Amino acid sequence: MKKFYVTTAIDYVNAAPHIGHAYEKIAADVVARYYRLRGFDVFFLTGVDEHGSKVEKSAQAAGKTPIEFCDEISSTFEKSWRNLNLSFDYFIRTTEERHAKVVQSLFTKLKEQGDIYKSTYMGLYCEGCEDFLRERDLDDNGHCPTHKKAPRELAEENYFFKLSKYKPAIKQWLEENPDAVRPEGRRKEVLNQLNDPELTDFSVSRSRKSLSWGIPIPGDDDQVIYVWMDALTNYITGVGYLSDDKQFERYWPADLHLIGKDITKFHSIYWIAFLLAANLPLPKQIYAHGFITVEGQKISKSLGNVIDPNKLVEEFGADAVRFFLMSGTSFDQDGDFSKHEFIRKVNSELANNLGNLVNRTLTLIDKNLDGKIPDCKPEHDLREKANTLHTVFDSCMEKLEFAKAIEAVMATVDQTNKYMNDEKPWTQFKEGKVKEGSEVLYTAVEMLRRVAFQIYPFAPKMASDIWWQLGHDDTLEVIGDSEKPDGFFDMIPVGQKVRNTGPIFKRLEEPDAP
Ligand code: ME8
Ligand code: MG
Repeated sequence: MKKFYVTTAIDYVNAAPHIGHAYEKIAADVVARYYRLRGFDVFFLTGVDEHGSKVEKSAQAAGKTPIEFCDEISSTFEKSWRNLNLSFDYFIRTTEERHAKVVQSLFTKLKEQGDIYKSTYMGLYCEGCEDFLRERDLDDNGHCPTHKKAPRELAEENYFFKLSKYKPAIKQWLEENPDAVRPEGRRKEVLNQLNDPELTDFSVSRSRKSLSWGIPIPGDDDQVIYVWMDALTNYITGVGYLSDDKQFERYWPADLHLIGKDITKFHSIYWIAFLLAANLPLPKQIYAHGFITVEGQKISKSLGNVIDPNKLVEEFGADAVRFFLMSGTSFDQDGDFSKHEFIRKVNSELANNLGNLVNRTLTLIDKNLDGKIPDCKPEHDLREKANTLHTVFDSCMEKLEFAKAIEAVMATVDQTNKYMNDEKPWTQFKEGKVKEGSEVLYTAVEMLRRVAFQIYPFAPKMASDIWWQLGHDDTLEVIGDSEKPDGFFDMIPVGQKVRNTGPIFKRLEEPDAP
């Protein structure tokens, strides 16, 4: 059985999750569910990044100890992801015991082989980035351009990692593997960064005086491990590195690290360097997605436009939120969440186009065929079209072009609706043309069966409901037959009784509609 290991970035727990975080986690779940359906042995890892000064300060401000604070916010993250119906196999917390061991062992190994050494560092540190900035990176006010705050001057004795030694190997990896970092623009950006002589050895520890909330360095009580070295290592801890050899051998290297565009450097340069130094296999792909704005504006606490994904799920259901976020702009570009557009799109595509197709097909089967799948094997060019669209769908899914993949599914739905409107099975039955009418309904049902598979990664609950209404007793998840050479047709047992139990998707109401 082929395996697929997909990860997400692990979120800082300085505040509760917003829909930007949800966007990335949903995308990873879409990938995980898609490959599971295709029969892959999938491992889907997500979790939280709990150390570092940002989290330490937020805890202080909340009057809690760091671990109390982390326990609370981390469980909010995990609950939110369950509410969104995310099928992760493990939720990692960087405060867990086995993770500290992995990070410490990596640190010790690199130190022993001379890739980590002690030196004094002076620089401008931005807490928002958890990174040092250069003078020329700052804006006109001398602030970090991302976090709009002045970095603080930091001079301390730290441990340094010999990035300089690994730069040529990273470059070679990027050049030999055009898909290693995607989209292509990001790969070019990383190659440019590697050509910058100022990108050199970097500090992988902090003095306890400036940061106490971190993983201790074995044998040096004055220092803790830099939060990015700690965080990146989650990807190996999560699949059993040093705790479950069999699991680690099964799943490592990752097939896909899904991350936001702002943390490309840490993954494509730092993480790769650590892995090279540790002599571990490199991930197959790092994909940097775009950012979500809300009603055209950057998500920010000060703008007061932070949307709690749980509120949306409560109001509109997980399927609607998932479907909308994945159907917007192309995954590598920035996208927008607008409530009005959300409601409009979901109603039009899920409630009207797909929902009505299911409803009228099953109603006609109930009325004319005693609720049973008829015995016929129709030939129709609609089947050809569906096969072609399915090829498009698969290729979009493999490239993480989710919006285009959804377009292919909706095109299948539209063509089936058009086919019904053209053939008018209701008239055919009225005119006594039972064979013709049966063939149309059979074809529609087969199309719906296929659509259920395709829509499943995006709207799993709705897809399972379609599946059930088509009369299947098994679950859609275990079928995994998209690998079958003949595609999907003629798979519904003749005589199977459909279950027409009402709309698969209830129309959303515009909350402030008059
Ligand atoms: O960077 N739209 O954590 P983080 C889309 N702990 N994605 C967004 C977003 C938005 N508006 N805002 C944030 C960190 N993200 C580190 C990661 S990984 C070993 C450590 C994405 O909480 C962001 O790009 O700041 C990142 O991929 C993830 O959310 C977590 O961001
Ligand atoms: Mg961030």
